[in-house]
Amino acid sequence: MTVIDRFLEQHSLTEEEYVELLGYRDDETVSARLKEEAVRIRKRYYGNKVYTRGLIEFTNYCRNNCNYCGIRRDNRNIIRYRLTKEEILSCCRSGYELGYRTFVLQGGEDLWYTDERMVEIIREMKKQYPDCAITLSIGEKSYESYRKFRQAGADRYLLRHETADEGLYRSLHPASMSLANRKQCLYDLKELGYQVGAGFMVGAPGQTLSHIAKDLVFLQELRPEMVGIGPFIPHHDTVYAKETAGSVQLTLFLLAVIRIMLPGVLLPATTALGTMDPLGREKGLAAGANVVMPNLSPVKNRKLYELYDNKICTGDEAAECRHCLGRRVESVGYRLVEDRGDAVG
Ligand code: 5AD
Ligand code: FES
Repeated sequence: MTVIDRFLEQHSLTEEEYVELLGYRDDETVSARLKEEAVRIRKRYYGNKVYTRGLIEFTNYCRNNCNYCGIRRDNRNIIRYRLTKEEILSCCRSGYELGYRTFVLQGGEDLWYTDERMVEIIREMKKQYPDCAITLSIGEKSYESYRKFRQAGADRYLLRHETADEGLYRSLHPASMSLANRKQCLYDLKELGYQVGAGFMVGAPGQTLSHIAKDLVFLQELRPEMVGIGPFIPHHDTVYAKETAGSVQLTLFLLAVIRIMLPGVLLPATTALGTMDPLGREKGLAAGANVVMPNLSPVKNRKLYELYDNKICTGDEAAECRHCLGRRVESVGYRLVEDRGDAVG
């Protein structure tokens, strides 16, 4: 039996077998087979529904200095901003009117937003929009902070592990950060009852197929409710300004693999994928993705939240993105729904 048959039968493999499977990434017959199976599974769990998450990028201040990220602390060439609670709530209002029932508060690791301030924002969002899910994406915090946010009403947390390999983790991040702490955060979040999202960049500088195989095994063990993956894209003001971007084709291959591995997972067709290929998000949906994350941030701040160069949708009003995405999703046979979109199974 080939590794492909084995994977399609068992939905899980060892690290060595994943390396072997990834060897087929450029084989069109194999990719087509995996995508077909991924779409079949995705339809069984979610029909033709695609969920939306209204993304609110509320601060681009960050105390970290990740080598790949455009809002890293050492980048002196961007204008930093913070949204007030009122501005955040006004993003929620326009999002709610457009049918969004999940709001994602994403930002750099910005200590101006103390636990008290975050709790106040979360409480107010939950009070005004009790039928909506709140997702946080604000990096590494203590168990106690995560507990307070959860108690205030946060439902989900996105924290990409970035890589499950110690060596690669160290090369992508400053010495102050560690893979052990990253993993601890993910386990803490799980224990607190959050729906958790992990993930990584495809084609990060120094990443090999063995590293990706490790990521897949890590996801297989963690069993997160959500997985965010997208191609690495260089940002001109970072250490990796001159590095090459990750491959769209490999990202699509991995989306299919992840759907097969974690059948009920919430899997976004990411903005990074849409940035690398004008039809990237549509192709992502056709490879097993079932979530899109349109931007709800005020247009005046959008350009300033550039984790990578040429990010799409930075000039569009929330309503434009909603309608554009609706059309894009329909063009590949799916339909955007007004729903919290919790994980199934
Ligand atoms: N290219 C692609 N993705 C990036 N991220 C950060 N910088 C980049 C980049 N240059 C991703 C990281 C992070 C998420 C919010 O965005 O994986 O976890
Ligand atoms: Fe924003 Fe298309 S999704 S303009």
